[in-house]
Parts: sequence; structure tokens; C-alpha cells
Amino acid sequence: MAAPRSSALSIAVIPGDGIGPEVIREAVGVLKLLGELLGQGFQLTEYPWGADEYLRTGIGLPNGALDELRQQDAILFGAVGDPRIRDMRHGREILMRMRFELDLFVNYRPVKLLDERLCPLKGRGLEDVDFVVVRENTEGLYVGMGGIFKKDTPDEVAIQEDVNTRKGVERVLRYAFDSARAAGRKEVVMSDKSNVLTFGHDLWQRCFQAVAAEYPDIAARHLFVDALAMQMIKDPGQFEVIVTCNMFGDIVTDLGAQLQGGLGVAASGNINPNGVSLFEPIHGSAPKYAGKGVANPLGAVLTAQLMLEHLGLKEAGALIERAVVAAIRAGQTTSDLGGSLSTQAAGAAVRDQLRRVA
Ligand code: IPM
Ligand code: MG
Repeated sequence: MAAPRSSALSIAVIPGDGIGPEVIREAVGVLKLLGELLGQGFQLTEYPWGADEYLRTGIGLPNGALDELRQQDAILFGAVGDPRIRDMRHGREILMRMRFELDLFVNYRPVKLLDERLCPLKGRGLEDVDFVVVRENTEGLYVGMGGIFKKDTPDEVAIQEDVNTRKGVERVLRYAFDSARAAGRKEVVMSDKSNVLTFGHDLWQRCFQAVAAEYPDIAARHLFVDALAMQMIKDPGQFEVIVTCNMFGDIVTDLGAQLQGGLGVAASGNINPNGVSLFEPIHGSAPKYAGKGVANPLGAVLTAQLMLEHLGLKEAGALIERAVVAAIRAGQTTSDLGGSLSTQAAGAAVRDQLRRVA
């Protein structure tokens, strides 16, 4: 985690596509208010990258973009994805290039229930849903290696490579143990499919045993990913830190999001512990809700919380969480959480609560 800073923090803001701009506007509003309340300066620079820009210029990420981002303290990102660009070419260029080229090798996804009423499981409370998924973020099935042979014929062959490197696996495992230790958590569960993926996930097994041995104070347990999915529903309270590969992490964090109230409230950090990190709500661009003012801004607001905590502003992060909890408790939410507020009004409600708790 980065050290606390006293000067203004420079934040790159990339609202992106779909509901991205609507929810990021609310998160930025919360950041600005927090800045005023705490005397913390934020220097926000907005970038227009996304589908509109891509359709206009044919460029996803302009030259020099990554270097500019490297100069910032953090990146606040909305979402990419637009029905006008069916194959998500621009999205891959924007999001995947940032993940890969900024070496954001951890996708840190807290699964924390903030209000009992939001949990879809019968009889489960706040203490049952409070863990974090550490998803590998730069390898696996996401690297885009492979090819298609005899396309559009009955003999077509499509190959998608699953890339696992010792360096890549070890560093994400180590991050999981380090973050467990830093948070006072006692166990790391590594999840793979080594019973079938006998090469790639055999590497995960061997690395896990080696890295776990470096952390005698943290228990290490393994679950195959199918069993993990089942246990997340059956008894989520058993989990503290789960670490897994890119693809499985993508899947189980959508499942995790439902445990905490749905995609509308789930936040994530794409982290490079030695460089700039990018924070995004996990819900995506949700084109069918775009421009309607119905999207839940809490995922983006909690993403801002994660960003501030990463930057060392723990108290500011805790204030955001208290304000969000208070807004949910008061029923000041969008319809996905049972309320009747618009995106803007739900953001304003969090800001009102923030003024109260600060
Ligand atoms: C996520 C998303 C992305 C992913 C998509 C938009 C490419 O689902 O961040 O979980 O698969 O990583
Ligand atoms: Mg996903």
C-alpha cells in the first residue's frame, strides 16, 4: 500500500462508456466533498477515452496515454463496452492495455456485505460476508494468445492459450498473503482446477506451497474452483482471502458481488504495488441502463473508497463507507437495492450522509 501523502493527489478520471460517466460523476462528487471536509486536495484530470472517441478517431488509447497515467497517483475508471462496437475492440485496447502495460497484476475485489437486507442468502449477516478475492490480472486466458484455423468451415479449430508464468503466479500469491497479513486475516484459500489443468494449475499448486511456507502465521488452504463456487453460497463466512487465476477470478467475483447486494455495489482495484493503480466498479458499462439515470452509483463510490485506502487515506475511506452504509440503511438507494432514487439522487444522498458523519 502506498504511503500517506499530504499534498494534493492527482487522479486520472476515465468515465468511459455506458453508465460509466453517470456513476463516476457521483463518485467524483463524493471525492470533491471529502476533499473539502478533510482539507485534502484532489487534482482531477478527465480523459475522454471510450467508444465515442474510438468511433470518431479509430484510437482507443492515444500515444503517450500510458506514460501520462504513470505520472498520476491513481486512476478512477468507469467502464468500457458499447453495443456499436460488437467485438469490444476498443475496450480491449483501453482496459486490457492498461491492465497489461501498467502491470496491474492484482485485481483486488472486496466482497463485503454492508447491510443485512442486501444479502440474497437466508439468515446470513454482516459477519458472514466479508472477504476479498485477489484475482490474477495480467495472465491466464486473458492474454489473447492463440488463433483460428480453417475459419468458418466445418473443420474450424480455435485455440485460446492459458498462460501461467512462475513470476506471475508467485507475485499474486505473495500479494494475497501480504494483504491477509496487513488486514489481520488468518487464512488464504487458493482456488484452481489443477485436477484437470495439469500443467498451468500444477504450477499454481507448486507456487502456492512454496509461497505459503514463507507465511507461517497465515493458514493456507486449497479448493478446486467448482467447490469454491459451492462453498461461497453454502458458507461464505469461512472465507477471508481467496486468490485465484484471472478467468476464475472474473467469474467468482460476479458471484461474490451478488452476496453483497449485486453488481451495483461491488468495487475493485487493479493494482500494481510498485506503480500507479486503477480503480473501477465491477459492473461494466451496462448499455441498456445508460443515460437513464437508474444505475447504482454505490459501486463507483465504494471504488473511490478503495482508491483512497490504497493511497493511505484510511480515515477518508472509512468515512465513505459509513456514509454509504447510512444511505443504504435509510433506503436512499436506486431501485436495484429496493429504493426509488435516481443515480444523481443516490449520489447526493451519500454526500448528505458524508456531511453528517464527517
Ligand atoms: C471484469 C470484466 C472484464 C473482465 C471485461 C469487461 C473484459 O468482466 O473486470 O470483471 O473480464 O475482466
Ligand atoms: Mg467480470
